[in-house]
Amino acid sequence: MSQKQIKLYYRNVLAEVIGDEHGITPAQFHELAARTTPLITWLNSERKAGKTPYRDLPFRTDISDDVKKLAGEVKNDCDNLVVLGIGGSALGNIALQTSLNSYMYNIDAKQRSGPRLFVFDNVDPVQLTSFFDWLGGDSLKRTIFNVISKSGRTAETAGQFLIVRKMLLDRLGPNACKKQIIATTDEKQGTLRTIVRKEGYRSLIVPDGVGGRFTVLSAVGLFSAAVCGIDIDSLLAGARDMDARASCEDFYKNPAAINAAINYHFYMTGKRNSVIMPYCYALKDMADWYRQLWAESLGKSVDLDGKEVHIGPTPIKALGATDQHSQVQLYREGPNDKLFTFLQVENFGSDLVIGPAPDCAPELDYLAGKKIGTLLNNEKLATEYALLHDKRPCLTVTFPQVNAYAVGQFICLFEVTTSLTGTLFNINPYDQPAVELGKEATFALMGNQGMYEAEKITYEEFAGRIRSRTKIDLDYLV
Ligand code: PA5
Repeated sequence: MSQKQIKLYYRNVLAEVIGDEHGITPAQFHELAARTTPLITWLNSERKAGKTPYRDLPFRTDISDDVKKLAGEVKNDCDNLVVLGIGGSALGNIALQTSLNSYMYNIDAKQRSGPRLFVFDNVDPVQLTSFFDWLGGDSLKRTIFNVISKSGRTAETAGQFLIVRKMLLDRLGPNACKKQIIATTDEKQGTLRTIVRKEGYRSLIVPDGVGGRFTVLSAVGLFSAAVCGIDIDSLLAGARDMDARASCEDFYKNPAAINAAINYHFYMTGKRNSVIMPYCYALKDMADWYRQLWAESLGKSVDLDGKEVHIGPTPIKALGATDQHSQVQLYREGPNDKLFTFLQVENFGSDLVIGPAPDCAPELDYLAGKKIGTLLNNEKLATEYALLHDKRPCLTVTFPQVNAYAVGQFICLFEVTTSLTGTLFNINPYDQPAVELGKEATFALMGNQGMYEAEKITYEEFAGRIRSRTKIDLDYLV
């Protein structure tokens, strides 16, 4: 661990800062340590038994080698890389790109070392039409489509994929599909794997036993990152180094354990919302990635003993300083029901010096000559101070710099935090049954001919049931 580590700062959740009513007292912290320590040991043993395969991803050189090989093949062959996916098959790709490539990456060829990247994680007709209009003509020939879907059945991704496939077939012929579509999907089974075999696309693997939201460090997230010039070796090295820290059985030295215990404590004592607030534009989409990880993993109706619990903190994303002017009024004066996690950057890498104020505006003189990054970090301190003043608990994750190593650390820190928080809640953080119902209902409404297996009825019958429940009653339409 020769590189600088990201750090979790937790004093500002303690009673010594925000008082006994809202803060964690020494006795409570001690109790949290005693409750969490055996769970770290248990999670380590689950990991050894192969039950948390996402933890192994940073060590899987077989995956990163495959990714680098294929990325090397396509990188110089295309001007655009288009990712088609949704949820865990897109949010990590977006987060890596925003954090680790330039803000002007797609606009300015000098600021990128790979093709432009577009990630479509929706089926919005206006957005897609506008994109495909732009892509017309010769640009289509120099575009690679990476369709990512573990199951291959997800309606949004399948719909996008079928549009692209038809467009390639119609405009460029059958060979174009083979050349320009790369599928990332289950190794052995599923709709997309069947298509890959039949149509001869190049492909990568979504690892077995890893839920979508934990796949960013597999081929799912790594391929677009590698094609777009992100140093995936450093990303994985950062995750490995954090993995060691997050496995430490000394609670007080384990940032994931402390983070999980604090999140657990505040949820159980009535602070049921968890705000993540990066003070850095590059990390803004990491907040989206975290939101899915947290919501799908921890929002559960039953616990591991089958008891109905309806548990789960609501993750909320905000961006500093932007949302100081939109959310902080509520955060300070509204209900004291939130835990705040700031993401702060020590060294922005590049910065700007603020110019002198005109003579007519001496009240702006205080800014002149200061760096804009200093302003941003002071905004964070100011907001934190204001929240602490109103006894709102605040955590801070500090990034020495936003680079691949630190982002890899952050991903691992929050993944293990999620596992441990789920363990503290006594729920299964790795399934998402509530998402599946919506997926199945979409199949039914879109005319899928098969069976809705969970209820042993046809999709047609299921569609009838959905329509009668969601039918618009004109008495209530104003
Ligand atoms: O985290 C998850 O499991 C989900 O968000 C999935 O990634 C998402 O629903 C897409 O599923 P699939 O990859 O099967 O298309």
